[in-house]
Amino acid sequence: MTVPEPLLRLRDLRVDVGERHVLKSISLDVPAGALLVLMGANGSGKSTLGLTLAGHPRYRVVGGQATLAGQDLLAMSAEARARAGFFLSFQAPPEIPGVKNNLFIRTALNAVRAARDEPPLDAFDFLGDARDEAGRLGLPEAMLGRPVNDGFSGGERKRNELLQLALLRPRLAMLDEIDSGMDVDGTRAIVRLVQALRAQGTAFIVVSHYLQLIESLAPDAVLRLDQGCIAETGGLALAADIARTGFARSAAEPQEA
Ligand SMILES: Nc1ncnc2c1ncn2[C@@H]1O[C@H](COP(=O)(O)OP(=O)(O)OP(=O)(O)O)[C@@H](O)[C@H]1O
Ligand SMILES: [Mg+2]
Repeated sequence: MTVPEPLLRLRDLRVDVGERHVLKSISLDVPAGALLVLMGANGSGKSTLGLTLAGHPRYRVVGGQATLAGQDLLAMSAEARARAGFFLSFQAPPEIPGVKNNLFIRTALNAVRAARDEPPLDAFDFLGDARDEAGRLGLPEAMLGRPVNDGFSGGERKRNELLQLALLRPRLAMLDEIDSGMDVDGTRAIVRLVQALRAQGTAFIVVSHYLQLIESLAPDAVLRLDQGCIAETGGLALAADIARTGFARSAAEPQEA
C-alpha cells in the first residue's frame, strides 16, 4: 500500500527574521482536507510560519523543505503559491488605500481561476457572488466598494478575510487568529465557512487561542509550537489542557514532579 503524499509537507523548516532564529525546526504533514489547530504562546512563531509559507520576503528560510502537492513551495513566488492554492488570512489585515475591495478580490479570484483552467468572472457575475457571500458573513455590502480594509473595524477586517477565503476556495488555508476581534455571530460564521469548505476538500491550519472555537472546528490534530519547534501533538485534550493550565505548564512539570 502506498501512503499518499500529504498536501503540505514541511521538513526541518528553519526561518530567520531580522537577527532572530524564530523557527528552529518545523516538520509537519497536512493531509488533503485535514484540519490542524496550531497553538503556542505569544511570540512562539505561529504568524512567522504563516507568513513564511505565503512567501513574505522578510521571513528568510535558512534551511529545510516545504512542498505543496509535491511542488517545491520555497522555490515559488508569493503569487505562484496563491495560484497553487495556498491562502493566508492575516492576523492583522493591512489597509490598501486606493485599491477597491471588489476589484482587489476579483483580480485575485480570476488569477486563481486561470490557474484552475476556469474562465474569468466579469464584474457583474463576481459582484453577485461577492454580495451573496458578504451577506452570509455579515459584512455590509458597502464594504465591497471601499478601498481594502480602509476604515474597517477589527471584526469587519476579519470578515473581509473570510470573504476572500470563501470566494477563492483554496486547497490549503491558514487562518491566523481569524477569531480575534470577532463577535459571537462572526465566530459562528467562521465555523460555518470552514465546515462548508472542508466538505469541498479544503485543508486548514487554524491558529487560535480560544478553546470554544477549537472545539467547534473538530480538528484532526492540535499542535503546540514552542521555541520554534512543534513541541506537542495531540487532540482536543491537548487544547483543553493548554486552556486549563497555560503554556508554561510543560516547562514547570519536570520541576514539580
Ligand atoms: N519583522 C520582524 N522583526 C523582528 N522580529 C520579528 C518580526 N516578526 C516576528 N518577529 C519575532 O518573531 C517572534 C515570533 O513572532 P510571531 O509573530 O510569529 O509570533 P506568534 O506566535 O504569531 O505570536 P502571537 O500569538 O502574539 O500572534 C517574536 O519574538 C517576534 O518578535
Ligand atoms: Mg501571531
